[in-house]
Order: sequence, then C-alpha cells, then structure tokens
Amino acid sequence: GHGYIEAVVGPMYSGKSEELIRRLKRAKIAKQEVIVFKPCIDNRYSKEDVVSHSGISIRAIAINHTEEIHKYITDETQVVGIDEVQFFDEGIVAVALELADKGIRVIAAGLDLDFKAEPFGPVPELLARAEFVDKLQAVCVKCGAPATRTQRLINKEPARYDDPIILVGATESYEARCRKCHRIKK
Ligand code: ADP
Ligand code: TMP
Ligand code: ZN
Repeated sequence: GHGYIEAVVGPMYSGKSEELIRRLKRAKIAKQEVIVFKPCIDNRYSKEDVVSHSGISIRAIAINHTEEIHKYITDETQVVGIDEVQFFDEGIVAVALELADKGIRVIAAGLDLDFKAEPFGPVPELLARAEFVDKLQAVCVKCGAPATRTQRLINKEPARYDDPIILVGATESYEARCRKCHRIKK
C-alpha cells in the first residue's frame, strides 16, 4: 500500500481519541492489520487500551520509548495508530516517517497546544510532515463557542505560567475553552 501520515489534533475533549478509534475500527472492518500505541504515562482510564472521554475504546500497546514501536511492526502491519502523541519525544516523528515510507498508514492523535497554548512537544513537527491534518474543536464550557484550547485548573483556579507541562488528568484538572475564555496566571 501507499504509506502516509494522518495527524488528528485539537484541545482535550475535542474527540481526537474517538476519531482515532473510528478510523482504526474501519481499517479493521476492511481486514487490515492494525496496531495501536500509547505512552505508558497515560493510564487514566486504562493501562492498555485507548479510551475516549465518552467511554469507547480499542486495544493498544503501552510503550515508554518511541523505539519500542519497531519491535511490534511486522511485514503484515498496514495501519499504525498512535494516541497522546504529544507525550512522546521528537523521535516519534522519525518513526512515523519511517513507517509511512515503508507503506504503512500512520494515524497520530494528540494535543497541538499545552495548557499555556504553546505548541506541544513533537506535534508541530508532526503536523508539518503529515500528509493529512485534522484540527478538531471541543465546546467551550464557559461560552459554548468552539474550543481550541485546554484550560488547566489547580484548585479551581487557572494554572500558573511556570507550572510543569506534563500533568496527566481529566475533568478534575482540565476544561475545554475558546481563545477568549482561556486563562493563564502570569
Ligand atoms: P480527546 O481525545 O480529544 O480528549 P475524546 O475523543 O476522548 O476527546 O472525547 C470526546 C468526547 O468528550 C465527546 O464526544 C463528548 O462526549 C465528551 N466531552 C466532554 N466535554 C466536552 C466538551 N467540552 N466539548 C466536547 N465534548 C466533550
Ligand atoms: P486527551 O487529549 O486525550 O484528553 O488527554 C490529554 C492528556 O494530556 C491528559 O492526561 C492531560 C495531559 N495534559 C498535559 O500533561 N499538559 C497539558 O498542558 C495539557 C493541556 C494536557
Ligand atoms: Zn469561551
């Protein structure tokens, strides 16, 4: 087959995992050989599955380092899904390119922006190199507008600018918000 990279990005709750799962399940219906990866760091809903906020899921392999992906790829592999791609190091881009060059369809989903609305880890590079890009919006919980950003809340207050980038969590720590309603404490 022809390999290529599909990137699915957007803020939290924008439906990235649902869209990734939808594409992967359709590939399975087409009897394609599918493998799904996620970083070990994300064990919110499940240690092994990719699970959406709405509860749909697909079997995945949790890995610590991008290089581990190669161990699981065989000559039969046709489609590779990667969720939470923002948590991987820059090496994930090289791996995605290598797989696509080999003829594999690579679908990578993750946050384009961190809680400060700054580009997140390897995702900008991945977006530049992907053949197809879908930028999804959530719904702003403050005003109902399309949400392009993720609000981090610490004790219900906007997080500070110098907070660490990585903080695994869901509704207790994060909300979807639009540009106008998004806040960072300087
Ligand atoms: P992502 O992977 O982008 O975080 P998911 O695919 O896991 O998103 O979850 C998307 C689902 O989250 C939606 O279908 C909806 O059920 C739920 N959801 C919760 N809060 C919101 C919100 N503010 N805007 C849109 N969907 C939301
Ligand atoms: P989601 O996009 O699948 O909802 O999950 C995003 C994960 O990323 C979630 O565990 C929270 C985490 N996260 C950070 O670590 N830093 C950030 O700046 C943001 C916005 C999210
Ligand atoms: Zn808003």
